[in-house]
Amino acid sequence: MALRTAIRQPEPIAGARLLGLGSSQPDRIVTNDELAQRVETNDEWIRSRVGIAERRFAAESDSVVSMGADAGSKALADAGLSPTDLDGVIVATCTMPTPIPNAAAQLADRIGVNGIGAMDINTACAGFCYGTGVAADMIRTGTARHVLVVGSEKLSDWLDMDDRSTCIIFADGAGAAVLGPAESADDVGVGPVAWGAAGDLVSTIGIDEKNFLRQEGQAVFRWATTKIAPVAMAALDKAGLTPADIDVLVPHQANLRIVEAIAKKLRSEGARDDLVVADDIVHSGNTSSASIPMAIDHMRGAGRVRSGDVALIVGFGAGLSYGGQVVVLP
Ligand code: UT7
Repeated sequence: MALRTAIRQPEPIAGARLLGLGSSQPDRIVTNDELAQRVETNDEWIRSRVGIAERRFAAESDSVVSMGADAGSKALADAGLSPTDLDGVIVATCTMPTPIPNAAAQLADRIGVNGIGAMDINTACAGFCYGTGVAADMIRTGTARHVLVVGSEKLSDWLDMDDRSTCIIFADGAGAAVLGPAESADDVGVGPVAWGAAGDLVSTIGIDEKNFLRQEGQAVFRWATTKIAPVAMAALDKAGLTPADIDVLVPHQANLRIVEAIAKKLRSEGARDDLVVADDIVHSGNTSSASIPMAIDHMRGAGRVRSGDVALIVGFGAGLSYGGQVVVLP
């Protein structure tokens, strides 16, 4: 039976692509030796077990919103767009100081645009991939033309600086991407997202009664090294690609040993010898939802990746949550 009222829908298009990237890090560099003055640890342990040489901690005046706005403005400039070209802002974060207000509305205002759809997504370290998935579908279905996706975290606010199992890992920063419409089906630059959650493992990462981040490191490590490579493979499969088709692998920068385990699995499935694998954790630490866009932006700045490269991104973290997709670099 036909409805009495015909509800018009936006005109769908072939798909989305990345138009620009940007990132932002606080000025303060914190070395392993500095942390070793506070907790019982050492540079050798941190480098060999996690892969981190140094990380950045935000100043009091830096916030999820300010770092995210800086990264977002750079991504817009990189895309050659103005804030008012945006139809939506998605901020992936798990470290806002309070549940409300969200980051996205303030961030949009700060970069110079109001009156557009603005929302936060909290899937912790998987947040950038979730945000990219939602933004790409907003564009594909005609809901939006240009969407800014930001991953921004101030994890230092939530660290127990006397807990050596967490304070040496997590750090602060932001990364952002602008997504826009592909010109044709051949020009689509964002693959379908492969995502999911393992709520049965919720107790392995969380915030305790003192507002400190705690994780069962070994349990999460085992999960990440066995369950995330299949998510990466699923993202490739959904995009109709194989490991040999990708130029760049960007897993969430949680631990260099996890990154290497995922790369090893992809190589065993046919990835090329010249596959570029992100190792931004060495100088940036684990910045949760910011780690993937920040890693890509840093690799681009260092000339390790080029416009047009096919990248496989995959995030994983608290929830537990995970997600990934193929993106063509702008
Ligand atoms: O981003 C969100 C997702 N999170 C992750 O993916 C994190 C996954 N987990 C990990 O990356 C690793 O489990 C950690 C980096 C957290 C820990 O590394 P590990 O190799 O699993 O160490 P462990 O917890 O098994 O500890 C090994 C030893 C222990 O000593 P004993 O019991 O063997 O004597 C720890 O007490 O290392 C000790 N230890 C440390 N030693 C020096 C733990 N932290 C430190 C430290 N410095 N900072």
